[in-house]
Amino acid sequence: MNSSMLPLTSPTILMCPPDYFGIEYEINPWMSRSRPSDLALAKQQWLALKAILEDVGVRVQTLAAVEGLPDLVFTANAALVYRDLAVLARFRHPQRQGEEPHDEAWLAAHGFRVVRPPEGVYFEGAGDALFCGDTLLAGYRIRSDARGHQQIGAMLGVRVIPLELVDPYYYHLDTCFCPLAPGAAIYYPGAFDAYALRAMWEVVPELIEVAEDEARSFACNAVVVGQTVVTNVGCPKLHAALNARGFATRETPLSEFVKSGGSAKCLTLRLDGEEAASWKDAGARG
Ligand code: ARG
Repeated sequence: MNSSMLPLTSPTILMCPPDYFGIEYEINPWMSRSRPSDLALAKQQWLALKAILEDVGVRVQTLAAVEGLPDLVFTANAALVYRDLAVLARFRHPQRQGEEPHDEAWLAAHGFRVVRPPEGVYFEGAGDALFCGDTLLAGYRIRSDARGHQQIGAMLGVRVIPLELVDPYYYHLDTCFCPLAPGAAIYYPGAFDAYALRAMWEVVPELIEVAEDEARSFACNAVVVGQTVVTNVGCPKLHAALNARGFATRETPLSEFVKSGGSAKCLTLRLDGEEAASWKDAGARG
């Protein structure tokens, strides 16, 4: 056991402050250098999200921001965490590849066994790979490669359901799909091809459908902590549907991050197992 390993008793999430956040390049349709983010407002929105997470019992750990890496704030993409294993990202766009060594160093220093995705495949971490029960649902085509997902599933010994993403606005799986519990999730159907939808209906019997206007407000990009779901503002229909199923909901404005194509979930990386992951109950990190 690594001496720097911290005890994981409460839900633990990795976040990275937006000290150097900005819209410096365009790698998804949300981003436009002509629509810059407001740094002071971004900092305020990030702190408010962090405060809500802490309020619902999360222990937030932080990765130091790095100048020149504006998207390091989106820690969901750093890696896929499975028990004590962290499958590091290999970013498709060169603009984000500089994040990899920082993610790797932090995870290794905090007790994770860091492994790389198979040679030659792109993989964008928990942004594209989400556990629902004992199954890993994995988005591909726009950022991550399908082939990589299958190989990562074999490395972890888990079943993988690859889901093809067809709408460039929903380029990561976590922009259009969010597991709530084993067998239950939130999703926006317009982001998937027909085969992906059939596969999803089969593995996730209880699906809450998000309307297009709320999907555009990043309703699916939710952070689930216990029975509480945290999203951006502008998702009242989803919140009502969740409340009817017994979930508590919290909303907080994340407009500055939406300009980069991200929202609540993208700004977080759950280190002890997402709520919907059945392996979480067996204990993270051994
Ligand atoms: N600007 C970032 C990118 O395009 C946003 C990443 C959002 N992260 C996520 N997990 N969806 O890569």
